[in-house]
Amino acid sequence: MNMSTIHQGTDVTLKERDRRVLQLLEQLTEIEQRLIPTGLHVFVHPSELKEKADLLRMVASFDRPEHGARSLRGLVAEGLNVDSYDRLLQDGSTNETTELIDSIVAEAVLRFCKDGAEPAAGWLKSKADVDSEESLPVFLLLAGIAQQLESNDEVDSLMRALRGEYIEPGPGADIVQNPSVLPTGRNTHAINPYAVPSQAAFARAKDTADALLNRYFDEHGSYPCALAFVLWGLDNIKTQGEGVAQALWLLGVRPLRDALNRATEIEVIPLEELQRPRMDVVMTVSGIFRDLFAPTMALLDKAVRRVATLDEPHDLNYVRRNVSESMAADASKFDDAVTRVFSNAPGNYGTNVNFMVMDSQWETDGTLGDLFVTRKCFAYARDSTGRTIEGREARQLMDEALSHVEVTYQNIDSFEVGITDVDHYFEYLGGISKAVETRSRVRPAIYLSDSLSPQTKIRSLEETVRLETRAKTLNPKWYEGMLKHGFRGVAEIENHVANTFGWSATADAVDPWIYTEISRTFLLDTVMFKRLLELNPHSVSSLTRRLIEAHDRGYWNPDEEILERLRDILKDLEVRREGVR
Ligand code: BEZ
Ligand code: MG
Repeated sequence: MNMSTIHQGTDVTLKERDRRVLQLLEQLTEIEQRLIPTGLHVFVHPSELKEKADLLRMVASFDRPEHGARSLRGLVAEGLNVDSYDRLLQDGSTNETTELIDSIVAEAVLRFCKDGAEPAAGWLKSKADVDSEESLPVFLLLAGIAQQLESNDEVDSLMRALRGEYIEPGPGADIVQNPSVLPTGRNTHAINPYAVPSQAAFARAKDTADALLNRYFDEHGSYPCALAFVLWGLDNIKTQGEGVAQALWLLGVRPLRDALNRATEIEVIPLEELQRPRMDVVMTVSGIFRDLFAPTMALLDKAVRRVATLDEPHDLNYVRRNVSESMAADASKFDDAVTRVFSNAPGNYGTNVNFMVMDSQWETDGTLGDLFVTRKCFAYARDSTGRTIEGREARQLMDEALSHVEVTYQNIDSFEVGITDVDHYFEYLGGISKAVETRSRVRPAIYLSDSLSPQTKIRSLEETVRLETRAKTLNPKWYEGMLKHGFRGVAEIENHVANTFGWSATADAVDPWIYTEISRTFLLDTVMFKRLLELNPHSVSSLTRRLIEAHDRGYWNPDEEILERLRDILKDLEVRREGVR
């Protein structure tokens, strides 16, 4: 077919082609712009220039009214007279204008790192007509951060801690979200649980939760019958309770402060204002959350109970509908049917789903979800008589609550720790998704929010696994950064592969190509394979075994050639190990 026939006959196809090319560009830009750790933190050592510049650029991409500093991107856009910049940011797409702005910001931050604030501000004035008066507060903020990145109290504090001395606390937060976490080497202080959620957290939460609902609605044509939320303690410290606020907003209530300014009450948002049904939300909170946020758990429980008693039609109040259905189905009491806040038994932590996956100790599909429920089915509530229930085993109630769920969800709020960096995301979000799958008889739609950029994004789990794989595991910038650390670096690569496997085990969310590319990059490439083997044969062996397990469990069906090679590698490594013994 020559070009003229494409032109004449298939206009739609050309449009479709353009759409796909644009979509590809957006995906590439997303990967390119993703901030990743390029190596491990070495105790006491400050980070390198390039890494520092990346971090500072990220810090400078948010408005910081508390420091009198505006976002550098916003300032550059204004200097270049780009009126529609906010809109450009909102729609999240990439084009020449956003690229130009980003490149100017990147260059300005690099110049700042090399030459200091004044020269960088001067350059920005000449390049993008940004007044120094506007840009200097940003660079001064960055200068403070840069200095604190250079020196830290890590060794001193460790020595003092070992002597049993007092270590001053600092806020526990993500460095980009709250740079006052620096200098490192301090204790982390938590938060007054009665202050959660803050007003700012509630405002942000509305956007995120609306984006979550809209995404589901666009894909399914209806709202989910119920959602299951994973809430972690540290995340809600960092964000002053954004996850909590999202749950409240979905229920259609807002927190109210009592006379002591404590968030202990809730106010029902009228349906006319809400403009959508009230969602049913099942909350599984971590042991850390339970220990830190007892008043918050009481607030969440109170919110669900209040919503369940509102005199509203079932199609506009899903809590009421589901509670009525449960009561009708098995004649359960209101107090039981309305239970939505679950955690571990008092004094217990974690789901153990990660250990079961890592040790390959499960056979049938339901086992992982059952383990999640066994660990997490302890109810925290207050009954109709006002009696506090703290950690009563309530397996049946959790099974019932999960049986309505069609969406599972968790926030990611740190660029340092993503869903394949640690096994905790799959033990929680993966664990609950598996539990839902057997209890509601459908695999739920699984989403994560990403508040790492100024515009919060909702991604499906599959999209997030792809993005993390491309930005980290398969990205030479990431794995070469890890390999600088020798033995430990190879172990980190192997960890990522194992955590990726965890997403297959719990949620079937890993595209087969990911396992193929991992094999090619780390095992079938002879130069890389030799490097890894020299640094850490144990991790190479575990990685190989894990890939073969991924095949054996049906997550991946590679060419026989690849499989043969992996089996040979494993055999050689075992012979080698026997030889060493
Ligand atoms: C938490 O902050 O609650 C948490 C952190 C890591 C793993 C599990 C829970
Ligand atoms: Mg169902």
